[in-house]
Amino acid sequence: MSITVDFTDKTVVVIGGTSGINRGIAELFAEHGARLAVASRSQDKVDDTVAALRTLGAEAMGFAADVREVAAVKAGLQAVYENFGEFDVLISGAAGNFPARALGMSANGFRAVVEIDLLGTFHVMQSAHTYLKKPGASVVNISAPQAFIPMEAQSHVCAAKAGVDMVTRCLAMEWGPQGIRVNSVSPGPIDNTEGMKRLAPTEEIRQMTLDSVPLRRMGEARDIGNACLFLASELGSYISGTVIPVDGGWAQAGAGSMAQAMSKLVP
Ligand code: NAP
Ligand code: COA
Repeated sequence: MSITVDFTDKTVVVIGGTSGINRGIAELFAEHGARLAVASRSQDKVDDTVAALRTLGAEAMGFAADVREVAAVKAGLQAVYENFGEFDVLISGAAGNFPARALGMSANGFRAVVEIDLLGTFHVMQSAHTYLKKPGASVVNISAPQAFIPMEAQSHVCAAKAGVDMVTRCLAMEWGPQGIRVNSVSPGPIDNTEGMKRLAPTEEIRQMTLDSVPLRRMGEARDIGNACLFLASELGSYISGTVIPVDGGWAQAGAGSMAQAMSKLVP
């Protein structure tokens, strides 16, 4: 038996796709033949990513939008539809994070993260629905272990990502009858990312993180991309409403202890 994952003539939209894990996902789909659209707040990052995707041989476009602004998200997605047609795959991964205890952040700090991660995901999914291929589209939200593991200095992220996973599961119910599959992927600690720069900022915490992963290595953006490729392909055609950890086993125990160490860094 041989397995081929081929996204030739498929349109893949990656929101928050201009750096780190999400950009890695976009690049992996490009390597597998897809045409790509990416979006984030910074026009410079969008331009840079679109150029890189074209270098990989993909047809690519992008738009700058803040996922907190539903009108901007809608306008951007409409432009993608007008250029590329219906969406086969939607990846929603825009997020914000900083370590802060509940008493160490303002209400606006908590709100900013919930608005980007949770409301942003809802805006993206609701606005994209008109353009999703029915039947056949696959939506993947990028979640985090914070969705189900309570962590000090992460109440905002834990609340937001738990919400993301519930939106995933609810919309899998609502959109399943239209042939749209909706899943979350929950990455472990991924090397060379903004997320790890913020949560494991010292060599000591980085080492502790490594030791806390059962597979004893950090993940790479490609590991998350591979899970998205699988979910979006025929191989994942009966998978919907799930949250899939792609984390070397980290969520089983290590994620909590690493967060405990990280939380010592904030007052
Ligand atoms: P990152 O490089 O900072 O990626 C975040 C992306 O979202 C960027 O493209 C950013 O671009 C965009 N973005 C941020 N705020 C936005 C907004 N308000 N509107 C539109 N776009 C926005 O971080 P990362 O570490 O790779 O994380 C990517 C995803 O993986 C996130 O969902 C994160 O929660 C999840 N995750 C990461 C890790 C990890 O180890 N890094 C672990 C678990 C889960 P602009 O700045 O241009 O807006
Ligand atoms: N500790 C406590 N509060 C913090 C903070 C920190 N380290 N960093 C930001 N905040 C607060 C700000 O003080 C502000 O609250 P205030 O208006 O009451 O002062 C609030 O968060 C919003 O910050 P602001 O910088 O105005 O928001 P923004 O919308 O420009 O940025 C963030 C959103 C804060 C999430 C920013 O870190 C960001 O853009 N992150 C995207 C990249 C990222 O986090 N990548 C990792 C993904 S896992």
